Amino acid sequence: MKNLSEANITDAVIQTFDQTENARLKEIMSALVKHLHAFVREVNLTEEEWITGIHFLTATGRMCDERRQEFILLSDTLGVSTLKDLLNHRKPAGTTEWSILGPFYRAGAQELALGESIAGNMAGDATVVSGRVLDVEGKPIANALLDVWQADAEGFYDLQKPVPTSEGMDASRMELRGRFRTNENGEYVFRTIKPSYYPIPEDGPVGKMLRAVGRHPYRPAHIHFQVSADGHVPLTTELYLNGDPYLESDVVFGVRSSLVIDVVKNDSLEDAARYRVGAPFYTVAYDFVMERDANG
Ligand code: BEZ
Ligand code: FE
Repeated sequence: MKNLSEANITDAVIQTFDQTENARLKEIMSALVKHLHAFVREVNLTEEEWITGIHFLTATGRMCDERRQEFILLSDTLGVSTLKDLLNHRKPAGTTEWSILGPFYRAGAQELALGESIAGNMAGDATVVSGRVLDVEGKPIANALLDVWQADAEGFYDLQKPVPTSEGMDASRMELRGRFRTNENGEYVFRTIKPSYYPIPEDGPVGKMLRAVGRHPYRPAHIHFQVSADGHVPLTTELYLNGDPYLESDVVFGVRSSLVIDVVKNDSLEDAARYRVGAPFYTVAYDFVMERDANG
């Protein structure tokens, strides 16, 4: 029996992984214990603080179901998701940066013709989003797929606005989502309404943690994109609207300055008619630059 002490307990625990067959699991478990023990030592964790932490993690788990992933929200708000993204999606210079996926992506949005609207009859500032999808040499990529989703003018996603039906609440309808394919010049264009900044779900332990440390729960206004094209690495990213009050303090650390785009007001009746919107309207423009994959 070892005589365990403050000085040797960390090594004693790490030694118990010696027989681990999976080398990566061994590396991860050893580093986890090393850093957890260092944390407990550094803050000199009290009995009361330890049980508070246990209760917090228990509540975080209890908040999770098939729609809500409170652990990912915790990872997002502590910058772990973005650090993981930065490490796993290092992009060559000149290509579009990655940004956080978030919990509101839904597969299967309708494929729409270029110029169509993802907003239906929703109220909000009419906005035209356009640009191109390019390869690293600046050549247009035809037939690239853009999967787009965003919050409404009040900051809500469709998933957050279930409608009452005779069988209960229904959140299955798709709003402010769509898929578009670039034309032969690599161009895309669609109509929408200007999204608003919004708070992340804050009715659970993560919201409680944010309040306890004096942080706000807001993300700056943005539009999500997943862009894919043959011979290129699929890209998950967001475009952030310049002028938003939360650009400098995104609660989930998603903003990159290269992804902040200007919102331009357009009063021209002629332009409005061309885009099938009322005047005045807003335009935003961005060219996505894709990273080539191993086959590209
Ligand atoms: C989002 O942008 O949809 C999002 C990202 C992380 C956490 C919550 C929401
Ligand atoms: Fe979002």
